Amino acid sequence: MAFLLAFVPALAFGATGAVLESSQINVNDVASMQRGASLYMNYCAGCHSLGFQRYSRMAADLGLTEEEVAQNLMFTDAKFGEPITAAMTVAEGTKWFGKAPPDLSLVARNKPGGPDWTYTYLKSFYADDTRPSGWNNTVLAGSSMPHVLWDLQGTQRPVLDSTGNVERFELATPGKQSPAEYDQTVRDLTNFLNYVGEPSAAKRRSTGVGVLAFLAVFTFLAWLLKKEYWKDVH
Ligand code: HEC
Repeated sequence: MAFLLAFVPALAFGATGAVLESSQINVNDVASMQRGASLYMNYCAGCHSLGFQRYSRMAADLGLTEEEVAQNLMFTDAKFGEPITAAMTVAEGTKWFGKAPPDLSLVARNKPGGPDWTYTYLKSFYADDTRPSGWNNTVLAGSSMPHVLWDLQGTQRPVLDSTGNVERFELATPGKQSPAEYDQTVRDLTNFLNYVGEPSAAKRRSTGVGVLAFLAVFTFLAWLLKKEYWKDVH
């Protein structure tokens, strides 16, 4: 197995050694990021801030109007130009979860494995009676975050290998979504968080394409010009 892994450099590992799954996000898929934004506001924003992201910037980047954002994505009394801050204060978070839910502005960028970490984390919650929240997670062992998407994913039960490590999960009770639908839900959330971590990525890429197109045209013109100039030189 170790022999095989040597040939798969793209495989990344979480802090606990859990193998991360590839998130397969597409940073140009705006519809996916819009769905992710909606999921985020409904399931995550109560606890987690996105302190580096303003509602207005998100609207501009994701092609949404101020009205659409106000009606569908703003559940606090924040103003359009303000950052996305959680309703919960750090003191409340510490009191309720033993640890304040961290700001997620950069989480898809600064974890080992980048967005794959967040993607796999959101797929790796399992029921654990020994934890205060009733949940545990193989990517972040002892995570104090409850599995807030359990109604969509269902409840997972860990299957242990001979050494007592979690080998894989079994769906103990199904959720509202099929496993494939849940993967897409988590992919959309990860795509949104990845965008928040680097809001200019899509724009930078399209600028790059423009620059290359310009250079191609310019090179052609320069070549025509050169031909014109050298025509009389023999
Ligand atoms: C009820 C409050 C709560 C909700 C809702 C919540 N989380 Fe969390 N989350 C936490 C807490 C608490 C932690 C800290 C876990 C720890 O370090 O033990 C956390 C940690 C995380 C982390 C790891 C951050 C890090 O830097 O280690 C990610 C990623 C994350 N949450 C994503 C989400 C997403 C995505 C959603 C919405 C689907 C969400 N959370 C909803 C409470 C919450």
